[in-house]
Amino acid sequence: MVEDSPILDVTLSVEAPPIVEEAPMMEVTPCAEYPSAEAAISEDPPTANEAAFVADEAQVLESAPWADAPAMFLAPARLLLAPPRLQAPPSADAPVIQISQVISALSFALDLTEGQPMGHAARACMLGMRLAKALGMTETEQHDLYYALLLKDAGCSSNASKMFHILGTDEIAAKGATKTLDWRNVGWGQVRYVLEHARPGRPMTERLRTIFDIALHRKQQTEQLIQIRCERGAQIAWRIGLSSDTSNAIYSLDEHWDGGGYPDGLRGAQIPAMARILNLAQTLEVFYTAHGPKAAMRVARQQSRTWFDPEMVRAARSLAKKGELWRGLDTEDVLAQVVAMEPKEGATPSSVEANEATLDNICEAFAEVIDAKSHYTYSHSVGVAQAAVGIARTMGMDADTITMIRRAALLHDLGKLSVPNSILEKPGKLTQPEWERVRKHPYYTHEILRRITGFEELAEIAASHHEKLNGAGYYRNLTGAQLSRPARVLMVADMFDALVADRPYRAAMPLEKVFRILRNETPHALDVACFEALVYWVERNAQKQAG
Ligand SMILES: [Fe+2]
Ligand SMILES: [Fe+2]
Repeated sequence: MVEDSPILDVTLSVEAPPIVEEAPMMEVTPCAEYPSAEAAISEDPPTANEAAFVADEAQVLESAPWADAPAMFLAPARLLLAPPRLQAPPSADAPVIQISQVISALSFALDLTEGQPMGHAARACMLGMRLAKALGMTETEQHDLYYALLLKDAGCSSNASKMFHILGTDEIAAKGATKTLDWRNVGWGQVRYVLEHARPGRPMTERLRTIFDIALHRKQQTEQLIQIRCERGAQIAWRIGLSSDTSNAIYSLDEHWDGGGYPDGLRGAQIPAMARILNLAQTLEVFYTAHGPKAAMRVARQQSRTWFDPEMVRAARSLAKKGELWRGLDTEDVLAQVVAMEPKEGATPSSVEANEATLDNICEAFAEVIDAKSHYTYSHSVGVAQAAVGIARTMGMDADTITMIRRAALLHDLGKLSVPNSILEKPGKLTQPEWERVRKHPYYTHEILRRITGFEELAEIAASHHEKLNGAGYYRNLTGAQLSRPARVLMVADMFDALVADRPYRAAMPLEKVFRILRNETPHALDVACFEALVYWVERNAQKQAG
């Protein structure tokens, strides 16, 4: 996707960052001339999670406290080899960052992959918290519920590829449409859905085969898709270090009151109360946003005792009558409102304010969400972070900068959650509209990350990963003077990892060819010093592995 991207003229209404003072075009530094690199590599203290990040995976696996993890959380994902870390001391001059603000902002990325308008999870959270209060949940329960509501769709990227292969179409649009359908009954809505989303534009015989296949395996496929989503969503919450009640609520999100839901067909009070709130709150939000409050309450009433707990539907109706349920849902500052709603009474400071390790855990967990979207990118964010840290350390950058670069690398493709797998996994050439969609992903990365207080610089770095020093990159056509050193590190690391990995349209390239392509991009597009540091780091790693 990197080397053969056509340059398209997509202009987005965004502000370019200011000119960066310390950003002259770098002089060429041959990789053999990194006298301080060895010392920088060995003497810099590791950042909060870096030690575990670069550690030998087998060693981490052996020492990881997986014995404590519920069986459903054990998955073969690469990052899951590292356990959650919550005890690292905060850096002395680090700004106070609220966990609720980070998770709320990142929930916007989950909305993108679920085919919902940005702010869906945040609005569902507002509705769910009002229901929880009305139902008399304790403060501790409300705190657990709060994060379950925000992260309810954390597993959605994991079934995106499977859904794309079943339908052969834009699975994000298809996912958005499923939220308003009852898949247990076959009616005109369900038939129309299949007709609209089953391989549109393909020959009729191919479409009919798909439609027949969906009809034949509907129950089994729905079960599998929900199972993947529930398990992965629960894993992500656990990975961040949230409570088992939070994880369990996410796991049981799609259970229905009458026992007809998934993944376990739980019935009535067998379903965790938090999961019952999640299910009702998300449905209310979807119908409220699409069709207004009356339509939302109508669905709640109609599905009371089938999908929803009748007591919770009564609570929702009562709140709506008092004018409290929908308050503030249409305002611009939904993020600020949802952050203000975090239940803090009795909460420990470490469960409200993010320390360094918590931030690392969140970034790593969301890197998993991003990488899970397609098997072609299953370890891309982690690979980019590894290369970026290698370059930054080789160049002798300080520990705080390296930490920021690593987090920016882990989150740089957050906006890719807005790109359907029908594009990400397309084996052939992309059409212009498809390219425009791809080229917009750093914009979404920026839009999401810039909302987090303390992440402003990180957002700039992450959103600049497809820029070029000569202004030929995207999405803002920044030039060298606007691209900081950390941004330049990420530009090189991203391109490197993309080239050494398999892509739908080509196999992984040998290192020699990768370096040749990257060298040809210097100095006009990529920073020479960053490139040379990459070569030094890769060669040094190869030497270490060889003996
Ligand atoms: Fe990207
Ligand atoms: Fe990338």
